[in-house]
Amino acid sequence: MKDSNFLQENNARHMWHPMGHAGAMRDHPPRIISSADGSTITDAQGHKVVDGVGGLWCVNVGYSCEPIKKAIADQLQSLPYYSAFAGTTNEPAIELSYELREMFAPDGMARAFFTSGGSDAVETALRLCRQYHKIKGNPGRTKFLSLKKGYHGTHFGGASVNGNNRFRINYEPLLPGCFHLPSPYAYRNPFDETDPDRLADLCVAAAVDEIEFQGADTIAAFIMEPIQGAGGVIVPPASFMPKMRDVCDRYGILMIADEVITGYGRTGDWSGSRHFGVKPDLMTMAKGITSGYFPFGACMVSEAFAEVFENGDAATASIFHGYTYSAHPVGSAAALACIRESQRMKINENAALRGDDLFAGLKKLAEKHEIVGDVRGGEGLMSALELVTDQKAKTAASPEILATAFNATYEAGAMVRVGGNNLLMSPPLIITQTQIDTMLSALEVGLTAAAQSL
Ligand SMILES: Cc1ncc(COP(=O)(O)O)c(C=O)c1O
Repeated sequence: MKDSNFLQENNARHMWHPMGHAGAMRDHPPRIISSADGSTITDAQGHKVVDGVGGLWCVNVGYSCEPIKKAIADQLQSLPYYSAFAGTTNEPAIELSYELREMFAPDGMARAFFTSGGSDAVETALRLCRQYHKIKGNPGRTKFLSLKKGYHGTHFGGASVNGNNRFRINYEPLLPGCFHLPSPYAYRNPFDETDPDRLADLCVAAAVDEIEFQGADTIAAFIMEPIQGAGGVIVPPASFMPKMRDVCDRYGILMIADEVITGYGRTGDWSGSRHFGVKPDLMTMAKGITSGYFPFGACMVSEAFAEVFENGDAATASIFHGYTYSAHPVGSAAALACIRESQRMKINENAALRGDDLFAGLKKLAEKHEIVGDVRGGEGLMSALELVTDQKAKTAASPEILATAFNATYEAGAMVRVGGNNLLMSPPLIITQTQIDTMLSALEVGLTAAAQSL
């Protein structure tokens, strides 16, 4: 590795970063994260903080999981790569497909299609849904429904069902036939409804209205995150997802649960769908499947969905979709080890307990700091503070204020993530109570600094 002067000098000069302005990144280079351990990260200056972001909602088992590191190293020795396109496969991928079926049987999932990450998994789900209806003799069912504020990655399909306009407008025109429904976001919504259950019913009614307007037999699928993550940790009331499941059933629309964040323990259950007692038709997964140790994802489908493909004719039902790295042997080995460790450590149970601690602490901060307009979370380890400069008018705090809060929080001992006017939190699921306390005391400093900058 080159010396630290070289790294500082060349930081963000020859590399464009995802989700940032290339010029601004060059002028204000990003922090260089050099090492990590458990639930903490250390930057190139030696500053060590609690990672309240879990990498990017993904390092569920923390940074020191030796069994995953060993599984990757061993697999690299025996078979670093081979294609899984029809005709060849590899051992860890076979074993992983078996394990996933066992793990997600309670959600009704029966088959896995492997990908390199979440956007690929979403793209796979959308494409397979259209094909499913064609095999069944309903080629007119091509449209997609999704929720505003939802995040489904950045491929053209995923961006088209994405419900946050910053990920959309500079890339338009997107896929035709995608329609967005109101999100059960009690702090801001077009119904001016603050009661979560009443709001959920209004959103369900709006979904029905849109389906009737479009014509149910033109709609392939509805995709939703059980808890909206990147859009600001929008937690729906328990009734919402089951009611949307009923609506999908009533109109013959497939339900895709985008579990890229909510899967693998983050909600306190092994899937967000299970958390809300729903069996979707498809699930998209990534992040926690390998805890970020290797880029990997999956689209899982139900038995009934699978049978349509498996019994369909070759011309319509063959899957002409897939990636060079689908079912990658190293990724599969990493996922197998990660799933075993996640289950062995019962990280879902810790997520539920520490999630309650975090949410309770955030609510106390919100009482004290007027800059906090809304606090969300309470269903496992995903939380958000929405910052405003006027509580009554709910005026969103500016990016500069968010940057002040972020920097001061970091200096005081915790990494959090800025998303719009939210501070987002999704730490490793192995985090301790003491580390949650560190996050809360660092946020106290961050919120004070933000208020002082007004
Ligand atoms: C719910 C959801 N779906 C899809 C994606 C896209 O995943 P990836 O960034 O691995 O392509 C993300 C990423 O954050 C996500 O949160």
